[in-house]
Amino acid sequence: RVRWRGLIDEYADRLPVTDATPRITLLEGGTPLLPAPVLSEMTGCDVFLKVEGANPTGSFKDRGMTMAISKAVEQGAKAVICASTGNTSASAAAYAARAGIVCAVLVPRGKIAMGKLAQALVHGARLLQVDGNFDDCLALASKLAIEYPVSLVNSVNEFRIQGQKTASFEIIDVLGDAPDVHCLPVGNAGNITAYWRGYVEYADDKISTHRPVMRGFQAAGAAPIVLGHVVEHPTTIATAIRIGNPASWTKALAARDESGGAIESVTDRQILAAYKLLARREAVFVEPASASSVAGLLAAREAGTLEAGLRVVCTVTGNGLKDPDWAIDGAPKPITIATDPQAAAKALQLVD
Ligand code: F0G
Repeated sequence: RVRWRGLIDEYADRLPVTDATPRITLLEGGTPLLPAPVLSEMTGCDVFLKVEGANPTGSFKDRGMTMAISKAVEQGAKAVICASTGNTSASAAAYAARAGIVCAVLVPRGKIAMGKLAQALVHGARLLQVDGNFDDCLALASKLAIEYPVSLVNSVNEFRIQGQKTASFEIIDVLGDAPDVHCLPVGNAGNITAYWRGYVEYADDKISTHRPVMRGFQAAGAAPIVLGHVVEHPTTIATAIRIGNPASWTKALAARDESGGAIESVTDRQILAAYKLLARREAVFVEPASASSVAGLLAAREAGTLEAGLRVVCTVTGNGLKDPDWAIDGAPKPITIATDPQAAAKALQLVD
């Protein structure tokens, strides 16, 4: 039995690291590729979920962050900075804590989930809430990184993309080849860029026989790539992807076009329906943004733009515990009872 060593050591030969690169790792990666029988039945495809909420801080950001923080430390950085809708900041705060360096975080005021805020704070980040959206935060973080001795660890940092591409390697390592279609949420568009990088690399080196069709999904109220223009005031319940001007826009278009894929939008209603279905039927609790990949898959099947019989992987990007409000919202209120078995049995509808 071989112990998982974290993705830098597992994929060192495919990453820009040397023996001298410190490994700032929480043993991220190696996440489950879970067969999804209900989604497979619904679509007639062979559907798998890449469960990225199983990473140490509960999202795929840990893949990029182990690389970004390790390289920052190698280059002598004493402080890092990021803008975030929540997950990047949670991850940066944890890896910076592990490295013993300062982490500064800029988040849009009132628009990040409570669990993510808690993570940044408990790991000791210096957190500022900005009166603006994510795009404003990223512009501000980029300026600070130019003018002050602090490294930017958003996905515009190439090392983030390098770390995140390992998710594609893992999928091919498990399936034995690339899937036919890969569905994932799109926000700042770093992750679709990274997955495509990984798929292209394995195909070029003949480790896989083909590359998948990439299908990215934005929330309808925050769909700049679908609309073809910046969205000044993005809105969606999926706060993680509430982004109006993605930094990796051009690279996302390249992934879309080179793969013969598409970037489409799903409504908040579709996102919430997929979110509930994932939890109740597949038993996978994700955050709302993560459910957009599955919402997109179901919408594509319904629209007739996805043939049956294909092998499909949907990335579910973050853990549902980060943003539990949506799980509680609309669920039946718990019934209060005395410590009485009969009352309990009645309330649980075990008897007529
Ligand atoms: N899903 C989740 C849960 C996310 O947190 C993000 C991005 C995405 C999907 C989209 O990925 O930006 O690479 O296209 N969250 C960033 C953050 C913006 O600050 O945590 P992307």
